[in-house]
Amino acid sequence: MNEPLILSETFNKIKKYLKKSTDNSVPVNEFKTPLELKNVIDFDVNAKGISENDFLELIDKYLDYSVKTGNKQFLNQLYSGFNFPAFIGEIFTALANTSMYTYEVAPVATVVETEMIRLMNTYTGYLEGDGIFVSGGSNANLVAMFSARNRTVPESRFEGYDCKYKLKAFISDQAHYSFETAANILGIGSNNVVKIKSDTDGKMIPAMLEKEIVDSINSGETPFFVAATCATTLAGAYDPIDEMAKICKKYALWLHADGSFGGSLILSDAHRYLMKGIEKTDSFTWNPHKLMNIPLICSAFLVKKRGTLQHNITDISTDYIFHDIDKIEDLGKKSIQCGRRVDAVKLWFAWKYFGLEGYQKRIDNLMSMAIYASEKVDTHAQLELLIPRQSFAVCFRYLPKGETDLNTFNLNLREALRKSGKSIVNFGYMGKTLIIRFVITNGALNHSDVDLFFNNLLFEAKKLEAKIN
Ligand SMILES: Cc1ncc(COP(=O)(O)O)c(C=O)c1O
Repeated sequence: MNEPLILSETFNKIKKYLKKSTDNSVPVNEFKTPLELKNVIDFDVNAKGISENDFLELIDKYLDYSVKTGNKQFLNQLYSGFNFPAFIGEIFTALANTSMYTYEVAPVATVVETEMIRLMNTYTGYLEGDGIFVSGGSNANLVAMFSARNRTVPESRFEGYDCKYKLKAFISDQAHYSFETAANILGIGSNNVVKIKSDTDGKMIPAMLEKEIVDSINSGETPFFVAATCATTLAGAYDPIDEMAKICKKYALWLHADGSFGGSLILSDAHRYLMKGIEKTDSFTWNPHKLMNIPLICSAFLVKKRGTLQHNITDISTDYIFHDIDKIEDLGKKSIQCGRRVDAVKLWFAWKYFGLEGYQKRIDNLMSMAIYASEKVDTHAQLELLIPRQSFAVCFRYLPKGETDLNTFNLNLREALRKSGKSIVNFGYMGKTLIIRFVITNGALNHSDVDLFFNNLLFEAKKLEAKIN
């Protein structure tokens, strides 16, 4: 391969792409079905390979038909935006291509990850804490439940989990589905994850948690794990950690805080109160790839008690990898992965670049933009706020004039907006009510971006409304 040519062309393509993805006149998304994609991109791998020109064309095609998640009108997922220093970190991490298992192979990255975990734990208040970067929030939640199971029933690490213990986990009815998957993987079974009722704001009701724990104990079961969500996927609600911590202490239960979505709020002096009591939890999932806008994947599992992670791993005497020659802790001994990406460096680059205060400002800006967006909903006669806004998600719907089914109308509205390519927003259901979820996760968003979103949405709404009247 002509590497200098490909490199200089790649550099030009990156520049072009970055310019395009911040240009509001370029669609966020050019929707195509898989068949249509196959008509414009040659997906086959042939025997003889391809030329450099064809290779360069592949890059263009890949970028052309991918959703522009760096565009400020990408408001669909709990991650968005483009973080330049972190992007550079991603490139150089791939260039060095080290794996996180040993210091021998990843000396700089090992120190970076250790420092990032230490820094993150200055926010959790885990004075003797530890942690590890994992392959996403779902996996962090899995490691949390795994650690809790191994504390309650340590022999399961060797003998397998014996169902006679009847382990029970407790999460809110708004919690992420990864906890049920975790219970499934760990042999506990997803039916043994109890969903505690949440209030009208989407926050877990502590009294209901205690009642379910007591009922479980009275039925001869073994409660072992409780998860607080900060913030919930749909409504962005923060569960009351402090009150939950009291209950967990009373019954000696592991308390995990799932901050996959809103955990980065811990950086903000102004808004950290929403996570009051975080230092009383046993573990915490923190996903910098969401509110800190680090390219996927960048996710940390933090734990209060040092030694927890090593306790999870059953055989670290594998002398073909861990040699202990340098007398330095190999991070692989704390991870359920062997080969592991370097995800801490891009966070380090970005955090170094923006600084502690810079990142605080970015998180505070997210909250200001969410407040601004919910005020826009509140003051528009045909927009209805469906769940009180607590953090970064604004859940609303459009109220058309004329007789129509509101769920169908709003589903069509979000589809029309998506297909227009001007903005992408997601939807979900609260009970039977369809909710449009406008989620603010791009730290660079400003008032005019929020205005543009509502203009685009209202434009499509009016068109649909005209059809029913
Ligand atoms: C509350 C919550 N927990 C866990 C997850 C899963 O995180 P990840 O996508 O990093 O696996 C999400 C994802 O949106 C989430 O909102």
